[in-house]
Amino acid sequence: MTIGAIIVAAGSGERLGAGRSKALVDLHGRPIVDWSLSTFADHPGVEVIVVVAPSDAVDELTAGAAGRALVVPGGATRQDSVQAGLSALPAQVSHVLVHDAARPLVPPEVISSVIAALHAGLDAVIPVLPVIDTIKRVDANGVVQATVDRASLRTVQTPQGFRRDVLVAAHRCGHERERSTITDDAGLVEAIGRVVQTVPGSELAFKITTPHDLQLAYRLAGPWAYGAEPTQPRTGGLS
Ligand code: C5P
Repeated sequence: MTIGAIIVAAGSGERLGAGRSKALVDLHGRPIVDWSLSTFADHPGVEVIVVVAPSDAVDELTAGAAGRALVVPGGATRQDSVQAGLSALPAQVSHVLVHDAARPLVPPEVISSVIAALHAGLDAVIPVLPVIDTIKRVDANGVVQATVDRASLRTVQTPQGFRRDVLVAAHRCGHERERSTITDDAGLVEAIGRVVQTVPGSELAFKITTPHDLQLAYRLAGPWAYGAEPTQPRTGGLS
């Protein structure tokens, strides 16, 4: 088994309002994308990395990658960017991890869990967390229609791991049909009828979308940035 990682970093990051691509925004002196690039590059289970960059930042990110990854230009949608990454992976890569650059603090343990499940022979593996808020379905006027049972709901993170041929087939199908409501790779794999297995994710693998998320990442990344061991948040005496 040869594992390749695709780090998709070609989004515009409009909701962050930073005036430049989200993956290039500074987090303690390094672009956001560099955090997950380092984590994947240091992981012993990952052999090849492709970073999918905004087309005007390929040179900048190639210089920043310093030989740790191949950098290719992305596309208009996340799906297009993943496809660009897939095409750039060397032929010997049998399994693929697709990771959002917007999740810079993903712990190596989550990458290890996804890889372990691929080693166990699964076709598609995603890290998830339970839903902790109460979820309501509302109509266009904001009137509650139903309270959804959250027990079987999960929020989904990356890296998502796949057998390469399964992911390629899923993307091919996704391209042929309209799949605008599908926002992740596992959704495309589900759509071709393949089984997707979940493994535990991590609260640290949250996605930076808003300025608040960036603040949170900045605070959480502090200990790493200055060389200390990351610590778990205090529980305030609660156990
Ligand atoms: O927009 P969103 O935050 O859901 O994007 C998730 C990830 O997909 C981000 O890391 C973003 O850079 C990437 N992306 C991409 N190409 C696009 C759109 C998003 O690589 N066209």
